[in-house]
Amino acid sequence: MVVKSFKLRSGAEIPSIGLGTWALNGEEGYNAILYALKHGYKMLDAAYSYFNQDYVGKAIKESGVKREDIFIVDKLANSWHTAAEECLDITMKNLDCGYLDLWLMHWPSPLNHHGNDPKTPTLPDGSVDFEKNWTYVDTWKKMIEIQKNKPEIIKHIGVSNFSIEELENIINETGVIPEVNEVELHPSNNQQELYKYCQSKGILLVGYSPLGSSESTFFTNPELKEIAEKRGISIAQILLSWGIAQGWPVIPRSQNPARLSANLDLVDLTEDEIAKVTAIGNAHKRRFVLASWHTFSD
Ligand SMILES: NC(=O)c1ccc[n+]([C@@H]2O[C@H](COP(=O)([O-])OP(=O)(O)OC[C@H]3O[C@@H](n4cnc5c(N)ncnc54)[C@H](OP(=O)(O)O)[C@@H]3O)[C@@H](O)[C@H]2O)c1
Repeated sequence: MVVKSFKLRSGAEIPSIGLGTWALNGEEGYNAILYALKHGYKMLDAAYSYFNQDYVGKAIKESGVKREDIFIVDKLANSWHTAAEECLDITMKNLDCGYLDLWLMHWPSPLNHHGNDPKTPTLPDGSVDFEKNWTYVDTWKKMIEIQKNKPEIIKHIGVSNFSIEELENIINETGVIPEVNEVELHPSNNQQELYKYCQSKGILLVGYSPLGSSESTFFTNPELKEIAEKRGISIAQILLSWGIAQGWPVIPRSQNPARLSANLDLVDLTEDEIAKVTAIGNAHKRRFVLASWHTFSD
């Protein structure tokens, strides 16, 4: 069923669909974010490392939408794990939106804060330059402390790109369970084991790259095309409706006004349609998002 929102463990509501803001840069990106807010998007998925927080903040202001009517997600960048509070301060200055509904650790990958690149510092041999005496467990401890000290700025904390093992590590070390784990989720990467584990802990998965990102192969899949045509909707609408029916919010990105609006117009898929989409994905397993600073356990 296409629910309007999901509940976090704390009881707070999170919209079932939000706008992904990665790669929404410059005037074109700004116009897309503004359009989305003016046309019904209630959640924005932002990040320090998207280097567009100022545009996101400007669009929030210009949209005229009340702050309390938008759920704003932002993320601590990899190269700021040892300087998390400073990253948060810059984020709040850029967004100028008063508070974050959800602050995530972007990846369990602390990179050298004093390295040779603001996003992906490297060593002379070209390999990724990680922090030497710092782990993502230290980062989680820091995020817990920051939220405790600034509850008016950070409403909820969570993580992103965490495996079961990585979740176990931070939970066992701190006793604090993240409210959200934002991960790549679509039919070709439905992460059922992680989903079950997170359900058992009260962690909500949020589905990123729900359309398969920029290199998506879904839009040319003949079986998905057939399901979409039968239903009289687009493949994107099928994928997003499928994600919400699985039990997670989705955060698609588009720069195109017509597609932004269409992506909000979702349907209740039948059990049969859901099963078919799941089977299509299982037959074509794939992750679309890979990063030099992280190795996925699968
Ligand atoms: N936490 C993390 O590490 C992480 C990693 C990756 C992504 N994310 C988040 O997840 C968001 C979404 O993922 P994503 O940006 O990778 O990709 P996505 O939303 O899966 O796919 C975006 C692509 O789909 C196209 N598209 C959108 N709607 C469409 C439609 N109705 N019909 C046909 N094509 C359509 C877009 O092109 P047009 O613009 O031309 O419509 C764009 O090329 C990101 O923006 C980011 O906020 C988080």
